[in-house]
Amino acid sequence: MQFTTAFIASAAALTASALPQTTPIATGQGFGVITIRSGSEIQNSGVQAARSSLLVNAKSQNASCDAESNFATFYINEEKELHLWESKTSYRPQTVFVDRSGMGQGLIGYTTGVQPLPRNGENKGWEIVNGELKFKGTGLQACPGSIDGAWSLWLQGLDKPGWNENCTSVIASAIKTDSPIGCWYTE
Ligand SMILES: *[C@@H]1O[C@H](CO)[C@@H](O)[C@H](O)[C@H]1NC(C)=O
Ligand SMILES: *[C@@H]1O[C@H](CO)[C@@H](O)[C@H](O)[C@H]1NC(C)=O
Repeated sequence: MQFTTAFIASAAALTASALPQTTPIATGQGFGVITIRSGSEIQNSGVQAARSSLLVNAKSQNASCDAESNFATFYINEEKELHLWESKTSYRPQTVFVDRSGMGQGLIGYTTGVQPLPRNGENKGWEIVNGELKFKGTGLQACPGSIDGAWSLWLQGLDKPGWNENCTSVIASAIKTDSPIGCWYTE
């Protein structure tokens, strides 16, 4: 709950300023992500993880969390891998990857436990640049029409990634949390 409160407070603060003002986030530090795109349905939406995708605006991410949370908590390790913060009762780490190949078209997904990376998947290269989550310098976009009324997140670069229409680029703003909530997210 603490995380949610901090999250909403940060989101409110962001609305007030043109540029996101965020505390630097250290390696291994827990953080949430909100999408910034003023005038859209996904302005200040907390990023969620469900069914191996990153989403915003899903009614529920249906994760099993150590405390109630409808948002995902992440950390980046020394190898620049983006991990979902693990539940205390789960021993299967969940790791975010991207697929920048012609097939993947900027797909963002996550693997669970020993599940291998997809053939063209990459998981090293995540960074927070001036408060914005990026993969090797590329930011994120969001596409409507995903499961449960949600928008799915993709890397920027194509107008219609995965043949999704009406996608819009966002600033994926990382918000530090000192009380990360661990979850096991649906596969
Ligand atoms: C969450 O669970 C509900 C009820 O089973 C389902 O309708 C919904 O699509 C699920 N949402 C996601 C994001 O998986
Ligand atoms: C994309 O926008 C067009 C025009 O507004 C609309 O007709 C269409 O349903 C939208 N598609 C999705 C997936 O939102």
